[in-house]
Amino acid sequence: MKPFSFFAFILAVACTILATSCGDDDVTAGNELETIPYNPKPYLPEIPAYFPKLTTPDDNPLTEEGINLGRHLFFDNILSGDNTMSCSSCHDPQKGFADGKAVSTGIDGIAGRRSSMSLVNVGFTKNGMFWDGRAAQLEDQALLPVTDPIELHTTWTDVEARLRSHTDYPTRFRKAFGIKSKSEISKELAAKALSQYQRIILSGNSKYDRIKQGLDKYDDLELIGFSLYTDLEGSDLPDAECHHCHQLDLATADDYFNNGLQEAASLNDFKDLGRGGFTKQLADNGKMRAPTLRNVMLTAPYMHDGSLKTIDDVLNHYNSKGKTSPNKDPLIRDLGLTPFHKKALIAFLHTLTDTSYLTNPLLKKP
Ligand code: HEC
Ligand code: HEC
Repeated sequence: MKPFSFFAFILAVACTILATSCGDDDVTAGNELETIPYNPKPYLPEIPAYFPKLTTPDDNPLTEEGINLGRHLFFDNILSGDNTMSCSSCHDPQKGFADGKAVSTGIDGIAGRRSSMSLVNVGFTKNGMFWDGRAAQLEDQALLPVTDPIELHTTWTDVEARLRSHTDYPTRFRKAFGIKSKSEISKELAAKALSQYQRIILSGNSKYDRIKQGLDKYDDLELIGFSLYTDLEGSDLPDAECHHCHQLDLATADDYFNNGLQEAASLNDFKDLGRGGFTKQLADNGKMRAPTLRNVMLTAPYMHDGSLKTIDDVLNHYNSKGKTSPNKDPLIRDLGLTPFHKKALIAFLHTLTDTSYLTNPLLKKP
């Protein structure tokens, strides 16, 4: 070994030893956060009386500190491989917590095959998350975008390390979950905080809600739209069938259907298997989650693949019985809606718009 490279070698060894011991100090101190107060305040969201109960897992009750940590994580590029994207890149509060694109693109610029979903009232979902229902609850779902190669594309080991060495996150985790040491920061706790944040993305203050509460009234056109949507008793208007799958008040039946979006000669021929890709039941192939229609006027383009650009395209799709496949739902049929009926339905859909969550400080971008 030449003297110069020997010197470099010694230097490298010394640096490695120093670096490791510094790193160890950070992580093994054990109780360095204990002096920071831990007394989380329970958070009770305001929910209309006619909504279902908002249930939370026993080990993850809503607290102001937990929601606040989740809010920071939700908007922070620290969760992505190259520090360029966060959850909010594809779930933008200004766009009904969706992204306004046909299909979402992740940090590597690779377009996914599916469209982002609105997160409004996502806390009420009991029958699976995503278009195919593959995540059982928010706590499971929140782990997935970080490692998804076409979303945030990094590893949780990396993210945990970055959160532990951050100037503010250790304190926020302490306040939310009472951890004693930075080393206790984990993906499970991050997922819990993200879930708390998402559970309070609530919409229950639209014109529809104000009418329901006796505080407002439909105008003539909206009332015709409501009648078409719900097949109101005593009305001689056609039944547009929407209510079966997008059941009010949440505007979703929390279930999976084939609404005739994909053409398929047999149950094996769907381009996106949807629900069946997860359940492995042939009869589920081609079925997708019927998403909520709350704030639907803010979330174009539509459907799992973003293939319908406008709300008119959506109504024309339903009015013309969709594409042919073996398990297409019988409700997807010739509805006989006139241009006036479609206009009325759109007027009704507008009454489901509610952006009052934008003023909730607990949901705002930090
Ligand atoms: C690159 C864009 C992108 C990013 C970043 C992203 N998402 Fe999503 N999100 C999507 C897409 C696309 C879907 C639908 C995917 C599917 O069904 O396969 C989705 C679905 C969801 C759902 C399911 C909603 C429902 O009603 O079932 C939740 C919850 C969610 N995302 C939360 C998050 C959280 C939390 C983060 C950050 C940790 C995040 N997303 C980051 C694009 C993204
Ligand atoms: C048989 C059940 C069914 C009926 C009836 C139905 N839908 Fe849907 N709807 C779905 C499903 C399933 C999806 C998601 C399909 C997909 O993306 O592949 C969907 C998606 C949508 C979307 C896209 C939402 C988004 O965020 O991309 C809109 C808008 C919509 N429906 C409106 C309506 C209206 C209006 C009616 C009545 C005219 C109606 N639907 C009737 C099942 C139904």
